[in-house]
Amino acid sequence: MKKFFIAIMMVLMPVAANAAGAKAPLDHIEIDHANKESLQRGMQTFVNYCLGCHSAEYQRFERAAVDLGMPNELVQENLIFGDQKVGEQMTNAMPKAEAAVWFGTAPPDLTLESRLRGEDWLYTYLRSFYEDKSRPWGVNNVVFPDVGMPNVLEGLQGVQKNHCTQEELIHQKKEIDPLTGLQIGGCLTLAEKGTQSAEEFDKTVYDLVNFMSYMGNPVLLESRSLGTKVLIFLAIFFVFAFALKKEYWKDVH
Ligand code: HEC
Repeated sequence: MKKFFIAIMMVLMPVAANAAGAKAPLDHIEIDHANKESLQRGMQTFVNYCLGCHSAEYQRFERAAVDLGMPNELVQENLIFGDQKVGEQMTNAMPKAEAAVWFGTAPPDLTLESRLRGEDWLYTYLRSFYEDKSRPWGVNNVVFPDVGMPNVLEGLQGVQKNHCTQEELIHQKKEIDPLTGLQIGGCLTLAEKGTQSAEEFDKTVYDLVNFMSYMGNPVLLESRSLGTKVLIFLAIFFVFAFALKKEYWKDVH
């Protein structure tokens, strides 16, 4: 019994570690790998806005093309810049050592980022940059304080200003306006408009995070459908196994 309790404690330990330390609230999204158009738009945003600094070196363009239902030629023409071929991995030409000097830390590979941070974190992170003149890039971030990345989506989103202290940022309460479906409350307000409306920008980031989530787990849909089939097989198999067991044991008392 004692061992059992120790085992339970060990299983729960990471949960306790996660609960420690105050963290800003995250906005929740439901990812949908079946929504191919969303994934295609997400990939487009990713190659245009992220691949310059970050690589996704465990993802090949071609695999994404097949999974997202895009012809190879289209991907080669529109989503690959430079002289890379469609069969290659999604890497970039930025030298890691120099990038570390430019940014303070090299931009990490993003193939498995959705596994590391989770989709909700990514969705919140990319939408919660705010102006902070004391930082090298003039921006800070609610869920990643003192981040070394510039707000690369600022042109789309616009400039957000923060009117809370660091402490209030972490405990801010955000609500969804039932009429517009947009977020109200919270610490950040849009000071300068970008090229997209708040609604459009949320959608752009949703698509981007959906694509990053796909990269982190490209077989999600397959494993779900396979899982269902396996369970159905086991249910049918159980009937035969049970009948066989009855047959074997019928003379034993
Ligand atoms: C100008 C270069 C640059 C571009 C473009 C860029 N990033 Fe970054 N990004 C960085 C740097 C540098 C860091 C490391 C920041 C740090 O650790 O303080 C970073 C960090 C991150 C992180 C956090 C990594 C972690 O877990 O520590 C995520 C997520 C991220 N970037 C996503 C993106 C996405 C998505 C895009 C495209 C919309 C993008 N980045 C575009 C430079 C860039």
